[in-house]
Amino acid sequence: MCGIIGYTGNKSVVDILIDGLRQLEYRGYDSSGIAVKCDNDVKVYKAEGKLENLCNVLSNHKGEFETATCGIGHIRWATHGAPTVLNAHPHTCTCGHLAIVHNGIIENYKELREKLSSEGCTFRSQTDTEVVAHLVARKYAQTKNLTEAVRMAAKELEGAYALCVMHNDYKNTIVATKRNAPLLVGIGEGEFFAASDVPAIIKHTNRAMYLNDNEIVTLTPDKMTLINSDAMELAPKIEVLPWEPVALSKMGYKHFMLKEIHEQPDVIRNILVGKLHAPDEEIVLNEVKLTKETLRHLHRIQIIACGTSLHAAMVGKYLIENFCGIPVDVEASSEYIYRRTVTDKHTLVIGVSQSGETADTLTAIKQSKEKGSHILIITNRPDSAMARLADSLISVNAGIEVSVAATKSYIAQLMAFYLLALYMAEVKECVDLGMLTTLKTEMMLLPQKVERILANTDDIQKCARRYAATKDFIYIARGINYPTALEGALKLKEISYINATGYPAGELKHGPIAMLDETMPVLSILMNGCVYEKLLSNSEEAKARNARMIALTNSKDEKLNDLFDSIIRVPDVIELFSPVIAMVPLQLLAYYIAEFLGKDVDQPRNLAKSVTVE
Ligand code: M6R
Repeated sequence: MCGIIGYTGNKSVVDILIDGLRQLEYRGYDSSGIAVKCDNDVKVYKAEGKLENLCNVLSNHKGEFETATCGIGHIRWATHGAPTVLNAHPHTCTCGHLAIVHNGIIENYKELREKLSSEGCTFRSQTDTEVVAHLVARKYAQTKNLTEAVRMAAKELEGAYALCVMHNDYKNTIVATKRNAPLLVGIGEGEFFAASDVPAIIKHTNRAMYLNDNEIVTLTPDKMTLINSDAMELAPKIEVLPWEPVALSKMGYKHFMLKEIHEQPDVIRNILVGKLHAPDEEIVLNEVKLTKETLRHLHRIQIIACGTSLHAAMVGKYLIENFCGIPVDVEASSEYIYRRTVTDKHTLVIGVSQSGETADTLTAIKQSKEKGSHILIITNRPDSAMARLADSLISVNAGIEVSVAATKSYIAQLMAFYLLALYMAEVKECVDLGMLTTLKTEMMLLPQKVERILANTDDIQKCARRYAATKDFIYIARGINYPTALEGALKLKEISYINATGYPAGELKHGPIAMLDETMPVLSILMNGCVYEKLLSNSEEAKARNARMIALTNSKDEKLNDLFDSIIRVPDVIELFSPVIAMVPLQLLAYYIAEFLGKDVDQPRNLAKSVTVE
C-alpha cells in the first residue's frame, strides 16, 4: 500500500526516483509524485493515474531539475481522499518549504488537522498525510533542526507510517522514520536510498539497513545518522541483501501474470530442493524449529492469513488434519485481531503471507506471539517484517511476483503445506510408510503435470471466450478443493471484475441455487476422489436449473459430455494433490477472460499487491 523512495547522492535524482517508483508500482498505482531539491527550492511534481502520467508531467519541466541530486517520491494507493493530483504525495507545509511522503495511515489525523488548522495551517488535500507535513513544519519552526522536528512530530502520531521528509533549508538531506510500515535504507558509495522495499534499490546497492519502529535516520550523501525516539544515537545494523538485481521482465509474455503462471513448474521444483530428495527418504524441514517431541504432542494449530494466502491456509488445514489428526483453525487475520482469541504456548500459530507485510496478518501474529505461541511463517519474503517475527520460517522461494493477482506464490504456499503436513506425519509416525512413499512420488511428479496443463491451453481459452460476457460466475467444489473454488473465483473477480463466488457444492441447495438459470455459468471442480460422486450429483442439480455447466476434471467418465457444456481436462492426480492441478487452469481461465475483456491484468483497479493498512 503506497511505495516511498528517497535518494541523496551525486546522481540525477529524478531518474533514480522514477525507476524506484516503477519497482514499487505493485504497492499502488492510482497517482504518484516526487519532490526534488532544485537550487534553493523544493519542487514538487505530481500526477493522477499511472506512473507514466508523472513521467509526462516531468518531461515538460526537464530544465528545472537536471542538476538535482536529492529527492523523495511516492506511488499511491488511496486510503483517505480520492486519487487526485491534490491528494497525491508529496505533501507540503503551508509555505511549501517542507515536503513529505508517507505510507500507512495516521489514525489521529482528524484531531491533528483540527488543531493545526486552528493554529493557522492551510490544508490543501483530504489526506491523513498532510497533517504530518504541517506537524513537522511546526516542530521545525521551534527547533530549526529537521531530525529533531521529525522525532518530536512522530511522538504525536498514532497509526502506521513510513515517512521521508525534506526541507528547503537543507541542501541534500532526507530524514526518514517508521512505525508498523516497512522502510529500509540502501547504502551506496557517496549515496543513500530510503525505500519501502528492496526492488527499488537493489539495482544500486545490496547493502542495507532495515529501520526498526520509531527509529529516525538522517541521510546526506556522505553520512547516515540513526537515533531512537529518545534522540540517543544508535549503531546501524547493516546487512548484505540476499538479492540479485531484479530483472522485472515479462520474458516475452504479454503480462507478468501469464509469465508467473508459467513459472509454476519451476516454483514447485524449487521448494522441493533440499527438502524432498527421494520418495523413500524422510522430508527434511530444518526450518521448523519445534522439537520433534513438541511436534508429536502438539494439540492445536491456528493458521492466519488473508486473501489468496487464506485459501492456501484452508488447504493446509485439510492436509494437517488429514495426515496428522491435529485440530486446525483457519481464520482471516482481519477477524482474528479484534476479538478474544484463545491461543497459548501450546498452540502453533502459522502465518501465511506472500509479501510478509500484510498489516492484518502482521498484527495477528504479533498478538499470538505475545501470548507465547510458537510462530511459524510461510512467506515468499524471508526479509519481511513477518519473517522477522518468526520462530520457524518456511521461505517458499517463488521468486518475485509482480502481478497483483497471486498465482505462483499460491502454488508455492500449497507446496509448503504439503511438506509441512507430511513432515509432521513422519515425526508423529501416523501415516503408513507405503502411503508416504506414494504421496512423495506424486509430489515429485507435480511439476510435469503442471507443464502438461500449460502446454495445451486451447480448451481453457475457448471456455474463456465463451463465458467472457457473463456478469456472474459460480464455482463449486467439495472437500480439499473447496478452497480451490474460492481461489478460482477470487482470481476471476480480481482481474476481470466479474462477480464470481465459490461455494462448497453441498451448500448450493441451501440458497445459491435460487440464482441459477440459463444465464449463469457453474464451474464444477470435479476431481477424482472421495467426493467425486457427491459433486456430480450437485452438478446435476445445477444442470436441472438450466445453468451453463463447465467441468474442470481429471475424470475420463464419458457421461460428463452430456452433463457439461464445456469440459477442461487436466492430468490425473491423487486427490490430495488435486488443488495444485486444478488451480492452474482456473488461473488461466481468469487470465484469458480478463485479457479477452481488455482489462489491466497486472494492475487491476482498486487493488495493491501489498496491503499494509488494516
Ligand atoms: O501478501 P499476502 O499473501 O499476505 O497478501 C494477502 C492478500 O492481500 C493477497 O493474497 C490478495 O488477496 C491477492 N491480490 C490475491 O491475488
